[in-house]
Amino acid sequence: MTAPTQIVILGASGDLTLKKLMPALTRLAAAGRPSDGFHVIGVARRPLTDEAFRAQIRALLPDDLHAAFDAFAPRIGYQAADVSDPVAMKALEARLDALPGGAQAGRLFYLALKPELFGPTVQELSASGLVTMRVGEMPAFRRVVIEKPFGHDLASAKALNSQMHGLLREDQIYRIDHYLGKETVQNLLGFRFHNAIFEPLWNRHHVELVQITVAEDIGVELGRAGYYDTTGALRDMLQNHMLQVLSLVAMEPPVSLDPEAIRDQKVNLLRALHAPDPAEVATNSVRARYVAGQVNGVAVPGYRAEEGVPPRSDTETYVAIRAEIDTWRWHGVPFLLRHGKRLEKRFTEVKVQFRMPPLQLFNRPEGMAPNDFRRALHDGSLCQIRPNVLTLSIQPREAITLAFGVKRPGAEMVMAPAAMAFDYRDAFDAPSAAAYERLLLDAIRGDATLFLRADEIEASWRFADEVLGGWAQGRAPLGEYAAGSWGPEAADDLFHGCEGGWSRG
Ligand SMILES: NC(=O)c1ccc[n+]([C@@H]2O[C@H](COP(=O)([O-])OP(=O)(O)OC[C@H]3O[C@@H](n4cnc5c(N)ncnc54)[C@H](OP(=O)(O)O)[C@@H]3O)[C@@H](O)[C@H]2O)c1
Repeated sequence: MTAPTQIVILGASGDLTLKKLMPALTRLAAAGRPSDGFHVIGVARRPLTDEAFRAQIRALLPDDLHAAFDAFAPRIGYQAADVSDPVAMKALEARLDALPGGAQAGRLFYLALKPELFGPTVQELSASGLVTMRVGEMPAFRRVVIEKPFGHDLASAKALNSQMHGLLREDQIYRIDHYLGKETVQNLLGFRFHNAIFEPLWNRHHVELVQITVAEDIGVELGRAGYYDTTGALRDMLQNHMLQVLSLVAMEPPVSLDPEAIRDQKVNLLRALHAPDPAEVATNSVRARYVAGQVNGVAVPGYRAEEGVPPRSDTETYVAIRAEIDTWRWHGVPFLLRHGKRLEKRFTEVKVQFRMPPLQLFNRPEGMAPNDFRRALHDGSLCQIRPNVLTLSIQPREAITLAFGVKRPGAEMVMAPAAMAFDYRDAFDAPSAAAYERLLLDAIRGDATLFLRADEIEASWRFADEVLGGWAQGRAPLGEYAAGSWGPEAADDLFHGCEGGWSRG
């Protein structure tokens, strides 16, 4: 038995801690994971007793977690401290030393703080001796989990990485992207590299196009408008979560499941993502902001009228990009990425669209001569639905569907669409664990596979910076779309010829 891990949540009275981290930790505690257990100390500036902190957490937990929480609560404490105050940090250390295992226990510091506090907080943790960068100096692990956003652009991400590397070893830094904690996102690796039948098709010879959608029906969240308005759809969703999904969909096979083997392949892929020049940004990206409309029959205001949004804001709430990957495997295959708020429906999915058979024998329109049919397909004046599409549904549906064509019963040789479908809900009894539960457990165990390495973050920002740079030059002017619609029509033009259109989930 080793000592229970000590988890220090800095920013303990915030939204993330109360709504995501504490429910996840309560579930882990209830499941007895990890087996050595853990203690939690919440840190924020406001004065709170342990009891008041526990009551705050309990009040926001779903009823079915109350019994588990009551058993877990004695292992939760609160320490009022300003992260920039060395005296308060010393008091925190004394509090941790008094827990079972004292300084011999592993310590996980979770930065649930505003991004501008990430650097100064780690600086203070380091100065106070709570974390250290030298191997062997501490009796047990000292790790720091850093929330998103990690930087605002490439330069700030590099500066933050460099600051972190002056204070911590890379293996102490756990940059979190909660998308990687989703079962269906992890399954992208399992699906691709456990099933031998798909990988031979997973390349430019057989794949015509890949589209990745993160569609939200909600607008800007209450209390987050100030943050969102300085961020926008590209930085908030595409640069991180969507490029992570893209890297798992398109990366080369890793040689093992070792964290570095996987992250090496992800970073290689992100580096091969073609960084568009301003002219390409103009033709291959679309950005827009929602105006008033109806979502699920309810009238909603436009983005500029949302509480906390400046009335003249020019922030995009929708982004779509036609991207390319400069590798042998993917050369010429478009990757269409789309994210928007206040769209008609909430869903996240990856669609892999396979090429048409080289010769189309079926579905010739009635009355069309065979030669005209052949010509029309060839010059693109007649488009036909691609029969083979693999849809990897990430949320809220957790499923995999393979579409194919079958002969429609009858005297004519006409093909109709059909599908094979797998749904997690039908196949497994247990619901998927919440993303933060899995990621917190991995951070306690020291498994960094699902956390982002410094070079991965920088490779993602390199791509995002090019798009943002083109936008800053006035390329791809900001458009509008009605709330509750499928986004701006201009985004449809990112599909060429007979490539089809955006998924509607
Ligand atoms: N909320 C989410 O769902 C979500 C999702 C993804 C990522 N994130 C990221 O998670 C981080 C936290 O977000 P949040 O929404 O939880 O923020 P928040 O609600 O504003 O909470 C911030 C917390 O930091 C504490 N704090 C502020 N200054 C401090 C200081 N100098 N010393 C000690 N504590 C201090 C605040 O309490 P006091 O005022 O009492 O000090 C509060 O507990 C951000 O980086 C955000 O981007 C959040």
